[in-house]
Amino acid sequence: QDHIISAKHLSRADIESVLDRAAEIAADPEAVADRHAGQLLGMLFFEPSTRTKMSFSAAMKRLGGDIVDMGPVDQSSVKKGESLADTVRVVEGYADALVMRHPLEGSAKMASEFVDVPLINAGDGAGQHPTQTLLDLYTIRESAGFSDLTVGIMGDLKYGRTVHSLAHALTTFDAQQHFVSPESLKLPRGVRYDLHEAGASMREHTELEEVLDSLDVLYVTRIQAERFPDEDEYRKVAGEYQIDAETLAAAKDDLVVMHPLPRVDEIAPDVDETDHARYFEQAHNGVPVRMALLDLILEGNL
Ligand code: CP
Repeated sequence: QDHIISAKHLSRADIESVLDRAAEIAADPEAVADRHAGQLLGMLFFEPSTRTKMSFSAAMKRLGGDIVDMGPVDQSSVKKGESLADTVRVVEGYADALVMRHPLEGSAKMASEFVDVPLINAGDGAGQHPTQTLLDLYTIRESAGFSDLTVGIMGDLKYGRTVHSLAHALTTFDAQQHFVSPESLKLPRGVRYDLHEAGASMREHTELEEVLDSLDVLYVTRIQAERFPDEDEYRKVAGEYQIDAETLAAAKDDLVVMHPLPRVDEIAPDVDETDHARYFEQAHNGVPVRMALLDLILEGNL
């Protein structure tokens, strides 16, 4: 079955087929307005979401289909103690594909072993967020292109699942990657190992100033407060690695600033007014990219 669990499993050809289809759909959304009429997408969100959940819903509806939503966890039978395995085995009978977000790393892989319909990982703890990566890559392709690309990824590299997914995918596009974080939030050893194994061209830094002027894309991330086992550890790094318009004076004129959102304080509002800011466009790209992904998966073409 065509489950989407990790960016590690997406080849460059897979990624390009989604991005190409997304570009076709963005150019002519009416052409696919009834393409998946009568089909249903099951939504299982065990963690909060605005962008991923709403853009998957919008995508399915813009393809002519609809959603069935488990709703908030505390109003579902999870509250009565139902296991994840039983939950997905039940809900697969109500839908043609499932989208699942869960706080536990590895949960999407585990759940996928219990279902016969495609299951899409919409974020598993600090693990992976492969569909965010697809819209990130779409945004990069539209704004900077993949040729001779240098990307800085800054912030919470330890718990940031969008980072773990994006770093793998950028490796398939031969991008030079600079990872900027406090010592305590560096890439996990397993992610670093996998990137080295995949042949990543990468360096790690603690100061953005060391690399800012070489970057084509700066991907800023939020410190993931909800993932810290110890609140004191979070307080030590909260508020670090912020940028504002003045910071970007040292950057290339055509630097693209991205962020998976939500942001807290890591990008000052004055950056929004600059030509560097692409994070709202990036969030909006979630709809055509997820339409493309759903279309390819529901047609069995990925
Ligand atoms: N980027 C992202 O995953 O946002 P949400 O948590 O709002 O879905």
